[in-house]
Amino acid sequence: MQNTNNHEVILSVKNMVKDFPLGQSSSNNLMRAMNDVSFELRKGEALAIVGESGSGKSTGARILTRIYDKTAGDIYFKGEPLDSYIKKNGSLEYARQVQMIFQDPFGSLNPVHSIYHHIARPLTIHKRAGKEAIPTLVYELLEMVGLFPVKETAEKYPHELSGGQRQRVAIARALAVSPEVILADEPISMLDVSVRLGILNLMADLKDKHGISFMYITHDIATARYFAEKTAVMYVGHMVEWGPSDSVTQTPQHPYTQLLLSAVPEAGKSGRRELGAKKGEIPLWRPSSKGCPFASRCYKASEKCAESIPAPTMISEGHYVRCNHL
Ligand SMILES: Nc1ncnc2c1ncn2[C@@H]1O[C@H](COP(=O)(O)OP(=O)(O)OP(=O)(O)O)[C@@H](O)[C@H]1O
Ligand SMILES: [Mg+2]
Repeated sequence: MQNTNNHEVILSVKNMVKDFPLGQSSSNNLMRAMNDVSFELRKGEALAIVGESGSGKSTGARILTRIYDKTAGDIYFKGEPLDSYIKKNGSLEYARQVQMIFQDPFGSLNPVHSIYHHIARPLTIHKRAGKEAIPTLVYELLEMVGLFPVKETAEKYPHELSGGQRQRVAIARALAVSPEVILADEPISMLDVSVRLGILNLMADLKDKHGISFMYITHDIATARYFAEKTAVMYVGHMVEWGPSDSVTQTPQHPYTQLLLSAVPEAGKSGRRELGAKKGEIPLWRPSSKGCPFASRCYKASEKCAESIPAPTMISEGHYVRCNHL
């Protein structure tokens, strides 16, 4: 894989922590959804965040779009602490540059509005163009996301499109404001298998040709490897392994990454070759919890793992892992 480390860092997160209250009883009754999470999004690069349900993937994206506040940690946008960037440039400007695409394209489109309206609206809100220029821009955006014929598509309503076409509209709407970053939260998981690759290839085009940075949230480490230059594997709010996608997927070191990869069906192999994992419970992580969150399911776990999760070890260029048993 090419070394893309000299690409400019657009968005970075350092030692992010997010706690949620458990129920309404007491402010001390907390669960820790993200623990000491750090990563960078570079210009024109995709970072895949991979992990099973509840690992804290969407929480990270929601903090970056300021839907949630962080409990601790730092966020930098274009080299500046996010708060000071927003103070100078305003939250609308940050929202313009950091767009989000959701899993359910139907839920994120308004059934009473035409496709034209969905794409014209952000152009107006963010004052991207004068009234006369808007139709041309809407058609250009529809062309960019591969929705033809553009004029007929613009007149349609969300229910008249397929799931894949609706996701393309959601992408066009995000593109309308010329974002630097797109946070894509499981953008293909609700789509028919036959159209998933088309959406991934469209996003790859936007990344490679237009320099947009992507955070690609997924359960599926196979699509992470296909689409993203970098992959970070999360388990119960912790980043357990991260680095160049090729290295993480070809030489996985953490038992959890190995488990995820063993569940990927491979061409030419009959059935799945899934690795065993203990049937331990997925722990409820609390601010006071310690050790490695995967210990209860890990076949390598020892006493040490119940006590601590080690600092990251770099096992090859940019490839890090947090495991006591390397
Ligand atoms: N608003 C909230 N209030 C309380 N707990 C929350 C809230 N949002 C998320 N959580 C909890 O934080 C943890 C991480 O949730 P998150 O949605 O980030 O997981 P995820 O990795 O995106 O999972 P999935 O793959 O199912 O989307 C979960 O245990 C979830 O219940
Ligand atoms: Mg999620």
